[in-house]
Amino acid sequence: MHLFNSLQIRDVSIPNRIVVSPMSQYISKNGYANDWHFAHLSRFALGGAGLVFTEATAVEERGRRTHGDLGLWENGQIEELVRLTSFIKQQGSIAGIQLAHAGRKASERRPWHGETPVDEEDIELRDEAPWQSIGPGNKPYAEGWHQPLQMTINDIEQLKQNFKDAARRSLDAGFDVIEIYAAHGFLLHQFYSPIANTRSDEYGGSFDNRIRLSIEVVEEIRLVWPENKPLFFRLSATDWIEGGWEINDTIEFAKKLKEAGVDLIDCSSGGIGGSEKQQKIPLGPAFQAPLAKEVREKADILTMAVGLIWQAQSANEIIEKESADLVAIAREVLSNPNWPLHAAQELGIDNDFSLWKPQFGWWLNKRERLLRRLGLKD
Ligand SMILES: Cc1cc2nc3c(=O)[nH]c(=O)nc-3n(C[C@H](O)[C@H](O)[C@H](O)COP(=O)(O)O)c2cc1C
Repeated sequence: MHLFNSLQIRDVSIPNRIVVSPMSQYISKNGYANDWHFAHLSRFALGGAGLVFTEATAVEERGRRTHGDLGLWENGQIEELVRLTSFIKQQGSIAGIQLAHAGRKASERRPWHGETPVDEEDIELRDEAPWQSIGPGNKPYAEGWHQPLQMTINDIEQLKQNFKDAARRSLDAGFDVIEIYAAHGFLLHQFYSPIANTRSDEYGGSFDNRIRLSIEVVEEIRLVWPENKPLFFRLSATDWIEGGWEINDTIEFAKKLKEAGVDLIDCSSGGIGGSEKQQKIPLGPAFQAPLAKEVREKADILTMAVGLIWQAQSANEIIEKESADLVAIAREVLSNPNWPLHAAQELGIDNDFSLWKPQFGWWLNKRERLLRRLGLKD
């Protein structure tokens, strides 16, 4: 098994194991996709990725992290996404969408505006006002952050409906994979992590209560998302904080998610909030891949590895050694959208540019032969 073997999940065949990880661009207006999203994500399909994910896409307006987040809370937002999925599919890649709700992490400035809470100053600077966030309780994400409103049972019911409606719109938009965003301190993570969830009703307290909302969201989505299409779930496999969510919790959670209709666990980690110093993250090449391996082995479910993977050999090893079934790449494809095609060459899988679109590959192959003939390349 290697990086360029296909993977069949339900009726969807992903042509190779390379996934473009969701990457927010913070450039939408009112949640609408635009030419930027089309150009940005199309490059990865041209670059040979097997599966290309949109960025975190909010299921309701107040669930956006920033004013620039993509959204799918109204039908008008579908049209531009159809253009995108059609193109990705024409190139032979699979189009996936990540559905999200930021919860208490909402109303934040874009990274290049400081990644701090939006306040009155943003109205003057950018005509962007702060908004009221929601969460499992009313504990802010960190010191100086907005205080969220504790969600009522009605809010929870509405949230499930919002995920379901967004899943239906995802289908209309032509996506073949949905990933639920439940990592990095966003709303569903806020519910399952004991660090953020201070509730005392059936959605807080015990492990079963804290995971209840995630399981119900999966069940709601499965009511409208076709049986033959894959459903992924991105979680933080550990909070990296003592007393927080741990890998053993993730293994039990993954088993229940599988029963509810999830096909693959995308294993990220961290981000629940509080003081950054509290988190003890063992950063290094492919540092989260061991989490994917453990979940894969102990919960008997497909997994995706992500985080500081940028070398072809390292990505290939993850698949070869069966640490995970898919490898997600984020920053490296920003640097080089053709990374999958280069990886295939490096691994000796494509020696004559045959994986490249002929509009590029024919010329590059011809130049390669010329350079060799001239003795300018080995
Ligand atoms: C620009 C940018 C935006 C991101 N936005 C999202 C997002 O919308 N959803 C998500 O799950 N992760 C997001 N991430 C995290 C990535 O998907 C990925 O998990 C992380 O960057 C680690 O992978 P890397 O080392 O290959 O970059 C983002 C990362 C970057 C660099």
